[in-house]
Amino acid sequence: MTTVGIDAIEIRTGKLKLDLPNTFAPEKGDDPEKYTKGLGLQDSSFPDVYEDIVTMGANAAKQLMDRKGLSPSEIGRIDVATESAFDHSKPVSTYIAGCLEQVYDGDFRHANKGERKFACVAGTQAIDDAYNWIRAGRNRGRAALVICTDTALYARGDPGEATQGAGAVAMLIDEDPDLVALSDDQGYGSMDETDFLKPNQQFPSVDGKRSMQVYLARMREALEDYESVAGKIELDDFQYAPFHTPFPGMVRKAALLAYRHVIRDTEREEELAEEIGRQPREDEYEDREAYEEAIREHMDELKDTEQYQTWYAKTVEPTLELSSKVGNWYTGSVHVARVSALRDAVEKDLDFAGETLLVGSYGSGAQAEIHTETVQDGWREEVEALDIDEQLAARYDLTWSEYEDVHDVHEYDEDVGHEMIEQFTTPSEEFVFTGWGRMNERQYDYVE
Ligand code: HMG
Repeated sequence: MTTVGIDAIEIRTGKLKLDLPNTFAPEKGDDPEKYTKGLGLQDSSFPDVYEDIVTMGANAAKQLMDRKGLSPSEIGRIDVATESAFDHSKPVSTYIAGCLEQVYDGDFRHANKGERKFACVAGTQAIDDAYNWIRAGRNRGRAALVICTDTALYARGDPGEATQGAGAVAMLIDEDPDLVALSDDQGYGSMDETDFLKPNQQFPSVDGKRSMQVYLARMREALEDYESVAGKIELDDFQYAPFHTPFPGMVRKAALLAYRHVIRDTEREEELAEEIGRQPREDEYEDREAYEEAIREHMDELKDTEQYQTWYAKTVEPTLELSSKVGNWYTGSVHVARVSALRDAVEKDLDFAGETLLVGSYGSGAQAEIHTETVQDGWREEVEALDIDEQLAARYDLTWSEYEDVHDVHEYDEDVGHEMIEQFTTPSEEFVFTGWGRMNERQYDYVE
């Protein structure tokens, strides 16, 4: 059977940045290390006044089509994953296709377009849809474009404000991919939860602490479900573990739990037992409370062992590099983590084709998904083609009052139009938002 997976990726960050330790923390009266060490964040990305989910998504898609030399007729499907949509009926993919049709010969008339929603896991679900469409043989030799695009903004003053971000990831899903092939096996952990939701409102209602517990619980279930079909996971089975990264500190917690789970009943647990004892087993304790207390103590010790720290530094930390500079991109976040991992492999000059990634996606509400990916022969060329370093270096560094203005411009209920404040950067060779049309549709132009 031919392999199906991600043939190419392009990333587009919002062009503004908010420096968390130096600009955000002083305004909040917080120790800057709460952000850098606690949450693991340096900067958040924000859209300039002429950017939004459509421009960032269309710009990423154009970059991808240009680099791969694609024309619209070679794309049979465009799915956008977002939780920042501004229309309950017309999908963002139609806006993005409309943008692309301004600059390419031909059109996407015969492409199936849609929008996927399940909080941050929707991007991975859109990849699944494309995978199934290709595997079913319904693609007529064409590839699918999956675009994850979000302006992940929180209400001013919400604890989530520190974890904001904005950006898009465009991915080409195809047969015989150049980057990674997707496993058939998948695991899910999915339950009806109300930890983070947006009931007809732009900014989320969030129970932050609970959302972290739900993330960990659903991830554990997804891992167990994955193992039930693929067999028990061993630490050496995968080189990196890119996970959904709302902020790096969240993945730090998930990694410790995952490590404890994976080494249980293995030689590694026995090796560690000499230093910190075996992992507590529930049947050894009188009640749940005593067991949980023992687990907490064990985890504290496990975290400081050399074995754990070496594994974490090699397998997880490199996946967090971009996220610490851009914040949460919701649907794009796990795909940014994958790119971070692959960039690390380039930097370390690893012989990486054939190696495995363990990918953990998550969306509030809530659902986690785990699968593996096999790195393909063309991976290095794909990763070296990314220009994310240049984009990050070119971001405009917002002052606090500029940040307040930008937040207002992007808040749909605020009466601050995009034309009311000066743009901070100058658009060039990209799609820009120009205003609203007769039916309240958003309108876009390509700027040379
Ligand atoms: P908070 O309550 O302001 O922060 O908000 P905190 O007081 O819990 O501090 C954060 C960490 O910094 C803690 O680390 C502190 O100890 C540490 P921990 O104890 O948890 O390991 N800290 C310091 N470290 C060093 N030096 C210092 C210092 N001070 C404190 N001086 C919260 C945190 C995550 C709740 C908030 O940012 C929030 O509500 N975020 C939004 C929700 C979220 O991201 N949840 C994550 C899981 S849900 C998810 O991933 C889905 C999502 O992406 C949406 C979707 O799916 O669509 C969000």
